[in-house]
Amino acid sequence: MALTSAVPDRVRLALDLLDLGCSERVMEVGCGPGVAAAEVCARLTTGSLVATDRSAAAIARTSRRNAAAIAAGRMSVRQVALADLDLPAASVDVAFAIDVNLFWIRDPAPELAVLRRVLRPDGRLVLVFGHGPQDPERLLPILTDRLAAGFADVIAHRSPLGFGATARRVS
Ligand SMILES: C[S@@+](CC[C@H](N)C(=O)[O-])C[C@H]1O[C@@H](n2cnc3c(N)ncnc32)[C@H](O)[C@@H]1O
Repeated sequence: MALTSAVPDRVRLALDLLDLGCSERVMEVGCGPGVAAAEVCARLTTGSLVATDRSAAAIARTSRRNAAAIAAGRMSVRQVALADLDLPAASVDVAFAIDVNLFWIRDPAPELAVLRRVLRPDGRLVLVFGHGPQDPERLLPILTDRLAAGFADVIAHRSPLGFGATARRVS
C-alpha cells in the first residue's frame, strides 16, 4: 500500500514489521496523535484496532484524526495505562508500540504481563523507536533481554527508518 510522505519514518518501520493481514485484531500502546493508527486502519477490512494511550490529550487527537474509522467500527480507543489495560485474554493478534519508552527506561514486567495476557498464543509484539538521541546499540540489548523473559522468537531490528524488536507470545 502507498504511503504519503507525511508518514514518519518510525511509523513506516512499524508498518513493515507489523506486516498486517487485513483481518487481524490489532492493539496499539501509546497511540499519541494517531498517525500510525490511521495507517493501520487503512490496511484493515474485517480486522480492527484498539488504540490505547494513558493521556487524555493523545486519545482526543487520535479520535479526531480517525473519526471515520471509529464511526465505521474498525477502530476503538481506550484511555488507559498499559499496566491497567483490561482487554479480554487472547483477544489480540498483534500489539505494537512506537516510541513508548517504558519498555527500556525501567523494568516493564507489569506491562509485559498484560501484553502476554491479551495476545493470543503465537500473537506478535512489535516495539519500534525512531532515531533520536538514544543509541540503538545501548537500547536494543535492554529491549531484547526484557522480551526474552516472557516471549519467544525475540529479534532486534536495525533500519535507516529506526530500530526496534519483535517477539511472539509463547503458545
Ligand atoms: C513519544 S509518544 C509517541 C506517540 C506515537 N506512538 C508516535 O510515535 O507518534 C509516547 C506516547 O506513549 C504514551 N504512553 C507512555 N507510557 C504509557 C503507558 N504506560 N501506557 C499507555 N500509554 C503510554 C504517552 O502518553 C504518549 O502519548
